Amino acid sequence: MADLQHQIILVTGATSGIGEVTARELARQGAHVIILARNRQKAERTQRELIATTGNQRVDIVLADLSVMQQVRDVAAQLHDKYPRLDVLVNNAGLMFGAERQLSVDGYEMTLATNHLGPFLLTSLLLDLLQKSPAARIVNVASMAYRFSKPTLSDLQSEQYYNPMWEYGNTKLWNIMFTQELAQRLRAHGITNVTTNALHPGAVATGYGQQSGGWLSAVLALGRPFMLSPEKGAETSIFLASDEKVGAVSGGYFSKKKPEPVKSSFNTPANNKRLWEISEALTDTKFLD
Ligand SMILES: NC(=O)c1ccc[n+]([C@@H]2O[C@H](COP(=O)([O-])OP(=O)(O)OC[C@H]3O[C@@H](n4cnc5c(N)ncnc54)[C@H](OP(=O)(O)O)[C@@H]3O)[C@@H](O)[C@H]2O)c1
Repeated sequence: MADLQHQIILVTGATSGIGEVTARELARQGAHVIILARNRQKAERTQRELIATTGNQRVDIVLADLSVMQQVRDVAAQLHDKYPRLDVLVNNAGLMFGAERQLSVDGYEMTLATNHLGPFLLTSLLLDLLQKSPAARIVNVASMAYRFSKPTLSDLQSEQYYNPMWEYGNTKLWNIMFTQELAQRLRAHGITNVTTNALHPGAVATGYGQQSGGWLSAVLALGRPFMLSPEKGAETSIFLASDEKVGAVSGGYFSKKKPEPVKSSFNTPANNKRLWEISEALTDTKFLD
């Protein structure tokens, strides 16, 4: 078990599933853990449980709905006020939406806003805090669902065609492409103390898929007994957040704690760069240019 006494770690979506276990196990290893959640009651319950089960009192809460860009900006400002640096950012929050295309308060397709644009903006706004760490890590929870996607950068908002599974798969491909482009830009800027990696946690029995409703929720519920426990599902996130073996690795995609090739013909350096530029425009931010 790593000694994380000197680490300040932010985990998004830590009120359930993989994120909750990730936050709990990192707290158990001594880290000062900050839970980013959108629901105060759930966040406070999780905070109490984490403190009770780990004995670590250093579990804080910050509140933000990642699909709302102003809330991401506000929470980043709070984090700057409260903490001298960040050692690890785990962009874990994410979900699949239902059969009907929904829009965020900023007018973006909800899966895109929650799974990609919010984490993109959060990472951009927290990069300076991460750079204050001697060795910082950004861990992006993607999914092998990237292989069940229909990626296009000309209809990122799925205005012409919306399918919840493909939309989810697209955003998980964006998570991987963002990770690769971020790693490349960090290197190009000579930033050697911040690494970033993406991962697939496995098929894990969590709250995942419940929001999507309909037949998909029913299928996922049927498959639940055959899925990994959240404890098993969090292993690769925890590994990438804390294991010294991957301290210097950046731009990778991991599954079962091992690097894996990304099998998507859409995953080209040109598309990674274009996705970055579009994401900057949509979130009204610029970083590592
Ligand atoms: N479970 C799987 O089989 C599987 C497989 C591959 C990848 N993943 C990925 O693993 C990650 C964690 O998912 P999970 O399976 O643990 O699902 P989960 O149990 O549904 O947890 C999702 C977490 O994200 C939070 N969240 C959702 N939307 C948010 C928003 N707009 N702002 C802030 N927080 C938000 C949720 O908060 P609330 O409690 O408020 O809803 C919850 O804490 C996701 O990125 C998912 O894509 C999961």
